[in-house]
Amino acid sequence: MKKKFFLFGLTVLFCVKTFAQGNQAIATGNEADHQKMMNFLHITTLRPGANGSGKPDAPNAANYDESKANPYPILPDPLILNNGKKVTNAKIWNEKRRAELFEDFDREVYGRLPKNIPKVIWEVISTTTEKNGNFDVVVKKLIGHVDNSGYPQDTVNIHLTLGTPATATAPVPVMMQFAFIFPPGFRFSNPPSSSEAVGPNWQQQLLAKGWGYAVMIPVTVQADNGAGLSKGIIGLVNKGQPRKVDDWGALRAWAWGASRALDYFETDKAVNSKEVGIEGHSRYGKAALVTMAYDPRFAIAYVSSSGEGGAKLHRRNAGELVENLAASGEYHWMAPNFMKYAGPLRWNDLPVDSHELIALCAPRPVFISAGNVGDAWVDVKGMFMATVAAGPVYKLLGKKGLATDVFPGVEHGLLDGELAFRQHNSGHTDVPNWPFFIEFALRYIK
Ligand code: GCU
Repeated sequence: MKKKFFLFGLTVLFCVKTFAQGNQAIATGNEADHQKMMNFLHITTLRPGANGSGKPDAPNAANYDESKANPYPILPDPLILNNGKKVTNAKIWNEKRRAELFEDFDREVYGRLPKNIPKVIWEVISTTTEKNGNFDVVVKKLIGHVDNSGYPQDTVNIHLTLGTPATATAPVPVMMQFAFIFPPGFRFSNPPSSSEAVGPNWQQQLLAKGWGYAVMIPVTVQADNGAGLSKGIIGLVNKGQPRKVDDWGALRAWAWGASRALDYFETDKAVNSKEVGIEGHSRYGKAALVTMAYDPRFAIAYVSSSGEGGAKLHRRNAGELVENLAASGEYHWMAPNFMKYAGPLRWNDLPVDSHELIALCAPRPVFISAGNVGDAWVDVKGMFMATVAAGPVYKLLGKKGLATDVFPGVEHGLLDGELAFRQHNSGHTDVPNWPFFIEFALRYIK
């Protein structure tokens, strides 16, 4: 009898081990963590994302038919409190409603910042005077060392570059960009045409106005994939353990990194830290909007082609969908809880939508940008609608939203209020709207 049990035990042990190994072999990296989050959320299946290949007969082809784009036309009202009462003045907005919206975005969308994030110590590793086009620039290369004494297995060193005009006699405004590091040979599917690529780059355009620029590398804060969540700043705080369902995702981690860069600017006499803006394109456009909403110290934002997870309404059926963000390639940008809205819940069950994220930037100026040729995946109309719907909050605070709710079309910038919108006539790029953003910014930053 005893022998029988022993053999049975051995067999079970063997089976469990083989199964676990098999599982591990299938579910590696992103997939393994994604599956773990589904288990935490008791989700068995997720609806598939839209297919962005551009082939209209592909299964789940992304929708670009406006007549099918608004299954949930009624958006949550940013100016109604959770208790059903109206937000009638700036005091109620600032003291009650903002906190309610942040709570919903924290819990269900982007995740909460942990309470015990370690300190960052900034080190200037070099200071040089360089030419950028015709401009003499003082370039500082910096590293933000995150204290990892609580979990020495992980190291986080934030990479930041600051360039300020060598001729400046007073602290200057600075625009900070979240920058991509492209693998060799990488190309966006719709790069700017060569005629746009010549001429002064964004940094030189800023230098021409006497501004400085900064470049932050988000992936030095947090890797851009699910497998990386056990490392980076998220892994460091969690000591390598999986996220909780309302833990921060990469977008908030990148935004946190931008805030730490701003902490440094507050200590650098070359920078007017009251006039620091944030810019990002595509996934970093999402990060720029999140940064601006959560950190009121940022003076202005240029949010380029941010799409789903950024300025696009989650409730829209156009281009990229909630379901794409919930899948294993992108879920790491968001709180795990966000995956629920790709099954069993629907987009309309989200307590908030992106117009309320834009509204959380109020009263500060925000420029929402998109392209035309091949930039439909970001749902330009959906981003416009969200910008319109953020308007009442700006108005309540004595500022101006967009002048119209009629979609302006290509190259008709709506640039007169604190909320600005412009669709340029190029592809998936931030290049063509830089001059328009700078013109807009000059109204606020002298
Ligand atoms: C994909 C993704 C988008 C993202 C973009 C990018 O297209 O679906 O959400 O913005 O990559 O960052 O380039």
